[in-house]
Amino acid sequence: MSNNTEKIKFYSGENIPLELHKVRIVQKLHLVPIERRLEALHEGGFNTFRLDTKDVFLDMLTDSGTNAMSDKQLGAMMSADDAYAGSQSFVRYQKAVEDVLGKKHLLPVHQGRAAENIISHAFIRKGNIVPMNYHFTTAMAHITQYGGKIEELLYDEAYVISSKHPFKGNMNLEKLEECIKKHGASNIPYIRIEASTNLIGGQPFSIENLRGVREIATKHKIRLVLDASLLGENAWLVKQREEEFKNSSMAEIILCMTDLADLVYFSARKLSSSRGGGICTNDYAIFKELEPLVPLFEGFLTYGGMSVREIEAIAVGLYETLDETMICQSPQFIEYLVKALESKGVPVVTPAGVLGCHVDAMRICAHIPQTQYPAGALAAAFFLISGVRGMERGSVSNQRDEYGNETYADMELLRLAIPRRVFTLSQIKYVEDRMTWLYENRELIGGLKFVYEPPVLRFFMGGLEPISDWPEKLIAKFKEDFGDSL
Ligand SMILES: Cc1ncc(COP(=O)(O)O)c(C=O)c1O
Repeated sequence: MSNNTEKIKFYSGENIPLELHKVRIVQKLHLVPIERRLEALHEGGFNTFRLDTKDVFLDMLTDSGTNAMSDKQLGAMMSADDAYAGSQSFVRYQKAVEDVLGKKHLLPVHQGRAAENIISHAFIRKGNIVPMNYHFTTAMAHITQYGGKIEELLYDEAYVISSKHPFKGNMNLEKLEECIKKHGASNIPYIRIEASTNLIGGQPFSIENLRGVREIATKHKIRLVLDASLLGENAWLVKQREEEFKNSSMAEIILCMTDLADLVYFSARKLSSSRGGGICTNDYAIFKELEPLVPLFEGFLTYGGMSVREIEAIAVGLYETLDETMICQSPQFIEYLVKALESKGVPVVTPAGVLGCHVDAMRICAHIPQTQYPAGALAAAFFLISGVRGMERGSVSNQRDEYGNETYADMELLRLAIPRRVFTLSQIKYVEDRMTWLYENRELIGGLKFVYEPPVLRFFMGGLEPISDWPEKLIAKFKEDFGDSL
């Protein structure tokens, strides 16, 4: 029986998400003064990845490894079977993968990008093309590292920030056919489709679309690889938005999606509220081709670079993905924040997706050119005035092209991640309040420039600085409006 919070009505008529869990372990947070927040920004190169959590109030950087774990996950971790080889924890992990994802053969890896490394190492040759709905930073970095190139094949609607389209993560089927015709099937080692497409605002694909992709892949004998890191939420949105599946269970929807892919990989940090990752398939030949790479890059085949405790948490977390009361919590809180910000005029990605609320820095900081990284600037400004740490998902997160030129992102977004069952509604209201204030004072935000730019995945450790004294001006206005409030 469906048991999500939409079934619970408030007498007042209010439409707010209600938690179907209780908090039993808590962690104290600190909101440090705004002057300290500015110092922290300077110390961290105006890059929210480089902030220390002692300076962060609400950590909305990511949901990766930060979703709340359940009592059952923590309990299972205590009974893990410590063994280099043949661990029973791994047997439980295999069983969960077979039950939930419907795949018999499992290769454990220490996190999602390790799976990307192994798949790229095995399949990518120089000059190959990998068509995908949209790239994810680490997926693209591994493909290009092995000499491949990506082609992003979304429908135009996906790039429309404010939209009502239910499935902006759909792969453009006509463009996929054209891409195969242009490059030749033999030059395409696999098609990659990502559940709940991260970098365009956590937007799902429909099963109807996935079936279309499968048909084309089969016709041209190309493998279909599913990045299932955010599969649970994609499945939940399929249930909400795709007529055919409105009465299906999460288990049925998830199996329907994984059945269509030859190879499924995932970051367990996201999928199962734990750590680690995995690659799974029912194709024995593919499994045998990838298998030797696990001991080479990760560790023995029954732990893959993870502790057995993490493996137990993945196994339990995979089953919990099927629980609607768990999986709906993050998207419902995101929808709440998206609607609240929209009602104040703050431009955000719609429809609300998964992972977080995505604020449109291109519009908020329309006065900052892309050469000065508007999304990075908005992330820094928002931390400064609220202590809330979001993540830049714009041009700083892009990588330079093969000639060393900047490639500007299609969207400049500030992502405010809402991990599962971590924040309370009053904390979400605080985010709404401070973002509304910042929006009303947006002209005070200025641009950034790189002072240290790493060659690969520069957004992680890159260092930037403000191109004027805009942070001081923002602080002055904050003091004027909030007095001595933190
Ligand atoms: C869609 C997607 N794929 C792959 C990854 C990489 O996973 P990990 O961070 O575990 O290496 C992520 C991480 O955020 C992701 O969102």
